[in-house]
Amino acid sequence: MLTPTNTRVLVTGGAGFIGSHLVDALIQLGNRVVVLDNLSMGVDNIKHHLESRSLELVVGDLADMSEQQLLRILEGVDYIFHYAANPEVRIGEDDPKTHFRDNLVATFNLLEALRKVNGVKGLVFASTSTVYGESENIPTDEEYWEKLPISTYGATKLGCEALVNAYAFTFDIRALILRYANVTGSRARHGVIVDFIKKLKENPQRLEVLGDGTQEKSYMHISDCVDATLTAVNHFFGESSKKSEVFNIGSEDKISVKRIAEIVIDEMGLEGVDIVFTEGVDGGRGWRGDVKLMQLSINKLRSLGWEPKYNSEQTIKIATQELLREL
Ligand SMILES: NC(=O)c1ccc[n+]([C@@H]2O[C@H](COP(=O)([O-])OP(=O)(O)OC[C@H]3O[C@@H](n4cnc5c(N)ncnc54)[C@H](O)[C@@H]3O)[C@@H](O)[C@H]2O)c1
Repeated sequence: MLTPTNTRVLVTGGAGFIGSHLVDALIQLGNRVVVLDNLSMGVDNIKHHLESRSLELVVGDLADMSEQQLLRILEGVDYIFHYAANPEVRIGEDDPKTHFRDNLVATFNLLEALRKVNGVKGLVFASTSTVYGESENIPTDEEYWEKLPISTYGATKLGCEALVNAYAFTFDIRALILRYANVTGSRARHGVIVDFIKKLKENPQRLEVLGDGTQEKSYMHISDCVDATLTAVNHFFGESSKKSEVFNIGSEDKISVKRIAEIVIDEMGLEGVDIVFTEGVDGGRGWRGDVKLMQLSINKLRSLGWEPKYNSEQTIKIATQELLREL
């Protein structure tokens, strides 16, 4: 469904890490893309499209844009990929309001405009593994019932999911919710690899690791993430007639923070680095709100015929090499 030329897709957060890779793929498939972004991460990720007729950039902030402006942007749009958010889990300790604003308020404003326009065929919402909180079922599947996030990031994203689903049913909007594990690779500007590379560039003898290093999470490469996203999108809008649906998107395993530190050190060609664990808070977490154990079940996505190319260890290696060329 997203392959015919002249399909017009709005990507909010399209200048960010995941959004810009989706923009590349959507344009490659022949779609016309409108990016709506406040450019808090800059414009570099999409600068190669700025002269192209396939991309229109609207600089604006979803959290305080007028409804009239938003309605104008939505005119003629077929699909919306809503990826604008503040994805930094860690800031919740000091600044929960930013999560509330950039995640919940921004999503509410978009949905309010969406219910007032005609012609939009559907919405894809970028959610996260953090909505599951501290799941007791690892790998966690989409049906895991006790969704009690432990970060304000996870809480606001779960709130967004609830709003998206409610709008889907109340206002007859088709909505696909994708819960991503940790995604990394070229253009990532937050997360553990970026943090380690920056620290090691400053001091190649010592690496401070937040927490006790035993935190284990699933990492997926951005190429797998885009591929999985398009698989779920094509299934939902092309083959299914459901009003809304949720898919987990991740890799098949998990990796510890300690192992990530070793890989990054290795890929940087450093030796004798003193890895210092801060021991963290609440039993070894990197920060309050840090889920210590995360791995998503990807069986539902697999049932569509999709398989990840890379496991977590391969992802970390490739992403480190890519990011070392950029940072
Ligand atoms: N990167 C991950 O590992 C990961 C994992 C799970 C879910 N997600 C979700 O995927 C989406 C993209 O994440 P990312 O890692 O690419 O983040 P990112 O920070 O690289 O990109 C987010 C983009 O949204 C824009 N933005 C933020 N608030 C905005 C606002 N109020 N109005 C307009 N634009 C705004 C930013 O300028 C940025 O370009 C987010 O919704 C995030 O919650 C990311």
